[in-house]
Amino acid sequence: LSKGNLQKVDENVVFIFDSTKLQKQPNFPEEFVWPDLENSSHEELNEPLIDMDGIFKGDEEAIAIAAELIRTACMKHGFFQITNHGIDPALIRAAYDEIDPIFMLPMDKKLSVRRKPGTGVVGYSGAHADRFMSKLPWKETYSFEYDASHLNPLSIVDYFKSVLGQEFEQTGWVYQKYCEAMKELSLVIMELLAISLGVDRLHYREFFEDQCSIMRCNFYPPCIYSGLTLGTGPHCDPTSLTILYQDEIGGLEVFADNKWQTVRPRPGALVINIGDTMMALSNGKYKSCLHRALVNQEKERKSLAFFVNPNEDKVVRPPQDLFSREEPRKYPDFTWPELLEFTQHHYRADEATLQELH
Ligand code: SIN
Ligand code: FE2
Repeated sequence: LSKGNLQKVDENVVFIFDSTKLQKQPNFPEEFVWPDLENSSHEELNEPLIDMDGIFKGDEEAIAIAAELIRTACMKHGFFQITNHGIDPALIRAAYDEIDPIFMLPMDKKLSVRRKPGTGVVGYSGAHADRFMSKLPWKETYSFEYDASHLNPLSIVDYFKSVLGQEFEQTGWVYQKYCEAMKELSLVIMELLAISLGVDRLHYREFFEDQCSIMRCNFYPPCIYSGLTLGTGPHCDPTSLTILYQDEIGGLEVFADNKWQTVRPRPGALVINIGDTMMALSNGKYKSCLHRALVNQEKERKSLAFFVNPNEDKVVRPPQDLFSREEPRKYPDFTWPELLEFTQHHYRADEATLQELH
């Protein structure tokens, strides 16, 4: 298996990820062994938890309190959680349940819809190398676009039917509804972020109204060598905001106060991470959250990540109030596709390292 786990598909080397086979191997493949895994602090980072109820009711005092908590957390490490966020628990459950049929597809089928290095973020990926990584993450992912500007005529329903087959129509409907709900929620969070930064309340909301976001289903098989590997290596999301649902297994860690801290799953809560694009939109005032995911020894873990992105023609620059002669711009103007191209350059570099290794 040590060599058999890499197969040549077209011109790209693609990793064939089969956790069942891997676990039967006496020697754990070197590619999955991550250094420095003993550095988890085992402390928990469960704050701040923002109760959105008062915010939806327009309670100005609740909004001011939430904005202050968000400001402190985002200036420090770019992470907070929300409850009473208004997303129907049945919709979250349905989206969660639709993860299985995707990853249970035969490997041939999954590879036929794989995410190709350097050509965007959509599709299947097994043990793909992310930014800053030269090691393989113990997971499979499936990503697709949600285009709120409707420039892309293919709805998520059509996309699932045409790419994965007619039997995925229901899956497509579930994710269509899930993404619509996530978009609405993201706009409320954008308003809170604007208030917390002291800029025009509608500034970011309007900027992300026609967002072209990415939805990703993550599947982390159990791993008997869980102490050696990572489900997702340390990284910051290049996107603006990530709205993450994690199941009850746990494994998400955030780097805060100079140590890796556990984000204990909280029923009904959603995790919010600030990404690089939001960091740029705040002129560096808010930190892009450094995070990673551990794997469980016995149980599979699943999560749903909704990555909020500006529409591709939007120029990412902070509002006027956030820079001045004394406090100049920290980042140049860029568009989301330009940033993506840049991060994929790193991605390709990692692919090259992988090929060299074998
Ligand atoms: C990710 O950051 O890509 C995934 C995080 C998670 O599954 O908890
Ligand atoms: Fe992430």
